[in-house]
Amino acid sequence: MDLYKQLGTFGKVRLNEPLAKHTTFKIGGPADFFITVDEIDKLVALLKFLDGDGISYFILGGGSNMLVGDEGYQGVVIQCRMQNVECRMDKIVADAGCVTVELARQSIKAGLTGFEWGVGVPGTIGGAVRGNAGAMGGEMKDVVEKVEVYRSGEVIELTNHQCHFGYRESVFKHHTAVILRVTLQLKKMEDVSGEAGGMKKALELIQYRNKTQPQGWASTGCIFKNVELLGEHGEPNRVRLLEHFDNHDPKVQQFLHVGKISAGWLVEQVGMKGAKVGQAEVSPQHGNFIVNLGGASATDVKTLIEKIKEQVYDRYGIELEEEIQII
Ligand code: EPU
Repeated sequence: MDLYKQLGTFGKVRLNEPLAKHTTFKIGGPADFFITVDEIDKLVALLKFLDGDGISYFILGGGSNMLVGDEGYQGVVIQCRMQNVECRMDKIVADAGCVTVELARQSIKAGLTGFEWGVGVPGTIGGAVRGNAGAMGGEMKDVVEKVEVYRSGEVIELTNHQCHFGYRESVFKHHTAVILRVTLQLKKMEDVSGEAGGMKKALELIQYRNKTQPQGWASTGCIFKNVELLGEHGEPNRVRLLEHFDNHDPKVQQFLHVGKISAGWLVEQVGMKGAKVGQAEVSPQHGNFIVNLGGASATDVKTLIEKIKEQVYDRYGIELEEEIQII
């Protein structure tokens, strides 16, 4: 049986599917095979089949926080559309393909608190766990109890601790494991006004994002990680903030307080907001976003990213690190 037919037993298959159709950046060449899977059991069977035959694959969540090359992907792209959700007391058990924003809304409706910030996170919950996504001070690591994953032919459970979460980091960025299902541990809202309070928090977050981040253009979230002022073990980072910046500037004080320098602010300092390569532009609104003005290529974006990194390094000696996944 040919691969197309074999894949058809696990989900809907398309050939030479342009990935630009499936990324929030609207950029990316074709995938040889593109399969949409809507049940965890089918996904596990598919992964076992692909691993068994040594066929390369790539897991696509919501298509945010990633840049797919113009050459596309040689192999099988798996779009995760498993979306079952169960609320169990103060826990939510969600399939990896659930839309994070929807899940955050559901958590508020179920009278739970702790995940309101999820309304500001594009993509799927599986993708959010992988990147330890966050907004407004919240991070996935604060709400994940455990994760069910497929790893080397087996389905296993990892505790929060075993996910090795760090700032926009997790074990999933470094080892091949596919996230299947996520259990979030939240808190019951104490009083009846809780739901309204949760909605208010969520609304404030959306308003903040609308005000500070580009709207209406295709983009892929923040391109770079913010720059941590202390290393993983508390040692001072290579960034010596005080040497470079005005310590009395309220923004600098804010960065010292949170322990990270906003990468967007650094991009602004080197005058690169509004810089363009082809149809890719550094957002004039927020320096850590690149927007697709229409028909931008991955090469345009990569060139712009390199220019930004060069400028920031030349001026401050800081090596910006990409937060997005580059395929
Ligand atoms: N700032 C500037 N110029 C800019 C961008 C930011 O001066 O071009 C200043 C802002 O005025 C503010 C400070 O820098 O004083 C921080 O900016 P902001 O609140 O926008 O937050 P951020 O650190 O740039 C982070 C996350 C975002 C998240 C927002 C809001 C990272 C890399 N970014 O951005 O997450 O939405 O906080 O919570 O951690 C993402 O991860 O993809 C992402 C967009």
